[in-house]
Amino acid sequence: MKIAIGNDHAAPELKLAVKAHLEEKGFEVIDKGCAVGEKCDYPDAAAAVCREITEGGCELGILICGTGLGMSYAANKIKGIRAACCSDYFSARLSREHNNANVLCFGARVVGEGTALDLVDIFVDTPFSGDERHQRRIDKITALENA
Ligand code: RB5
Repeated sequence: MKIAIGNDHAAPELKLAVKAHLEEKGFEVIDKGCAVGEKCDYPDAAAAVCREITEGGCELGILICGTGLGMSYAANKIKGIRAACCSDYFSARLSREHNNANVLCFGARVVGEGTALDLVDIFVDTPFSGDERHQRRIDKITALENA
């Protein structure tokens, strides 16, 4: 599976840790974030990662900024993206099981590396339940994109 990852200047070190962790798990990681010492605006990284999902063959994305919030606001503006900003494991799991989220966002100023790696593991290892009632609600979210 291909996973896209992006970050702003608040999170290059945590991005590198997440990237290495995903590669160790056998994922191909497409890095659209900025490097240590660079400055960048989180909407640009969010757009680049989401494009890898909607057009580039990536199944999931990970976005890290200071809080995870700006990344999630930007990502959720893009058609086909359901971005979940999570700092707890229950939300990370349910974002996949119930909401079929395709992007996980979190904040490098909110969670430490251990929690971040666990959030990533839960997110990438949990499938969508496929339950009809959850799919119906997701379809209603998708309909809002064209409302
Ligand atoms: C950048 O300083 C900061 O605003 C950004 O990383 C993020 O927390 C925005 O939501």
